Amino acid sequence: MNIKIKRDELVEYNVSELKGATLLETLNYIKTKIDPTLTYSSGCRSSVCGSCAVRVNEKEVLACSYKVQEGDVIEPLKNVEVIRDLVVNMDKAYEFNAKSKAWINKSASTPDVTQENEKLNEVQSDCILCASCYSACPVYAVNPEFKGPFSLTRVYKYVSDVRDSDAKEKIDVIQTNGIWDCTLCNECTMVCPQDISSKADIEKLRMKSTQYGYMDPNFGSFDGGLDFL
Ligand code: SF4
Ligand code: SF4
Ligand code: FES
Repeated sequence: MNIKIKRDELVEYNVSELKGATLLETLNYIKTKIDPTLTYSSGCRSSVCGSCAVRVNEKEVLACSYKVQEGDVIEPLKNVEVIRDLVVNMDKAYEFNAKSKAWINKSASTPDVTQENEKLNEVQSDCILCASCYSACPVYAVNPEFKGPFSLTRVYKYVSDVRDSDAKEKIDVIQTNGIWDCTLCNECTMVCPQDISSKADIEKLRMKSTQYGYMDPNFGSFDGGLDFL
């Protein structure tokens, strides 16, 4: 079985010795048996840490859970700086969490959290920051300052947390390069290993924004397709 890995150029490796191996096991095999210079990231080996995300045949996957197949083409994530081979610099992606104020600000009188409250953002809490959604999002191609799927999912997580005291401040921050820039294409949802739908979270944040008096800035420029009048 042969696979190709994008390094400075596409390099083909014969990994016929391996049967039913994950991509991470295959990368480890190549590094120990064929080419010690191959560089990639990994940690937990069990889909928990999010560090091994790459693209296979143009789709984002976790290397530790993906089973390698004949002819696979492996590339680093998109929309991030490639440091070497499959290792990317995630700093800019993580900066968006800070820019989006995606953390909790507890009020002095914190209410008790019920099980129903917890369910509101249970799924969002499962994000492992693998940045697969960031890589798959087409908006970054035209706007590298877009706050993007996982940061907006984090904002939703905290905005929907009953203990948070400044939801309004978070909603204010995501009006620019945020929720209204998303095209609702759903690419982020399709690649998320944790079944998180950032698209759905963005839609909920849009509804929340209207409750605070915001409206879609693109709405005013919509001409209703009546150019011929
Ligand atoms: S739905 Fe929005 S955030 Fe998700 S990939 Fe599409 S444009 Fe990006
Ligand atoms: S939302 Fe999903 S795809 Fe995006 S960083 Fe979190 S776990 Fe990864
Ligand atoms: S090595 Fe941790 S998610 Fe793959």
